[in-house]
Amino acid sequence: GATKLWGGRFSGATDPLMEAFNESIHFDRRMYAADIRGSRAYARALHKQGILTADEQQALDRGLAEVLAEWEAGKFKLRPGDEDIHTANERRLGELVGAVAGKLHTGRSRNDQVATDMRLWLRDEVQRLAAFLRELVAVLTTRAEADIDVLMPGYTHLQRAQPIRWSHLLLSYAFWFQQDAQRLDQFVPRVSQLPLGSGALAGNPFQVDREWLARELGFASVTPNSLYGTSDRDFVAEFLFHASMTMIHISRLAEDLIIYSSAEFGFVQLADAYSTGSSLMPQKKNPDSLELLRGKCGRVFGGMSGFMMTYKGLPSTYNKDMQEDKEPMFNAVDTLSGSLQIAAAVVATLKINPDKMRASLTSDMLATDLAEYLVRKGVPFRQTHHISGAAVKMAEDRGCQISDLSVADLQTLHASFGDDVKQIFNFETSVDNRSSIGGTSRATVEAQIALLRKWLA
Ligand code: ARG
Repeated sequence: GATKLWGGRFSGATDPLMEAFNESIHFDRRMYAADIRGSRAYARALHKQGILTADEQQALDRGLAEVLAEWEAGKFKLRPGDEDIHTANERRLGELVGAVAGKLHTGRSRNDQVATDMRLWLRDEVQRLAAFLRELVAVLTTRAEADIDVLMPGYTHLQRAQPIRWSHLLLSYAFWFQQDAQRLDQFVPRVSQLPLGSGALAGNPFQVDREWLARELGFASVTPNSLYGTSDRDFVAEFLFHASMTMIHISRLAEDLIIYSSAEFGFVQLADAYSTGSSLMPQKKNPDSLELLRGKCGRVFGGMSGFMMTYKGLPSTYNKDMQEDKEPMFNAVDTLSGSLQIAAAVVATLKINPDKMRASLTSDMLATDLAEYLVRKGVPFRQTHHISGAAVKMAEDRGCQISDLSVADLQTLHASFGDDVKQIFNFETSVDNRSSIGGTSRATVEAQIALLRKWLA
């Protein structure tokens, strides 16, 4: 017991099973740099209060720099009993600088320390993820620009609905990811509140200058209440939600492309670099990258709901249950970071088959346009919907396309049909008619591209 950081009041040894159960070092070691950054700032804050002499502060600073260098070089040696990243760093600091290491933790608790480390770590990771999101938006936008002439069926209920530009679909994904990036940006000030200087729960008795610490560590503000500062993990839950939402978007994009890459659709073909074969069937090319993008959602949602279960009903303030916050956070960061990069690569290298997309357009998809033709002649839409439906039925009964019906045929359904109705049966006209903001016309798709370009710049 006495060898432990907290061993003073203990006489019995910890059960080895309990040691293994209790330790978090195998995952929280990832925060070594954040932990050392926080400690170096804290040592300076203690010096400002006269708790540490300049020599002591400098000794700690040099020691902590050395501990950091060991981690970076892969030379940090964990010892049995290194319970978590905080105890491991402090233990090593003591070996390097001697007894003065024991002054670092003055007024500090692992409770304000761990919350600070996590917020520091996550704040930087979130900015990296936002950059990957912007990259994905850029790839989708570039592709939308290049493929602007390609038309395809748009679907609702996975049934052919209306012709759209392929670019329009790509841009719909881009706007999802733009929103995701904006949500992460808006999250930054919330994750960026400094708990350090909250002590174990009640506050810091040495008047450390928390505002100064926040500036030193690049935090936007200080947590205004020490109980809140040590017990709050809302930022973890919020991040897990943002990660889940982005994974949903990635998964829906993946699902579309999986469907479109089946032989039955044949709209897109995945690059070899992101597909795999079958060990049995030589002809197979499977969209494994897309299936993993879709499948990996599960672990991120699971992490979110699992963590919320843990968090619910915890008494104020710190409880060891909270150690369970890190693995879902790390996992969500890793899964999201990998997924965003793969999604961007898949989209950038995707081959499309514009002829196949085009061949899937059928003139019944212009039935709405036919109804709208009559609207322009002054017929109320509800009526035109009915009339166009009757035209679809007439074509179906005759085993032809609605575009094969003659003007005379159509006139049996309504007197307002004229020769100009033939212009309706043109897919380009159909898409370019949808030219209100957000529509699939060339001009409004170009406007979307311009919006995203401006946002990316
Ligand atoms: N490893 C712990 C965690 O991740 C650090 C905080 C421990 N604090 C405590 N009072 N036991 O939550």
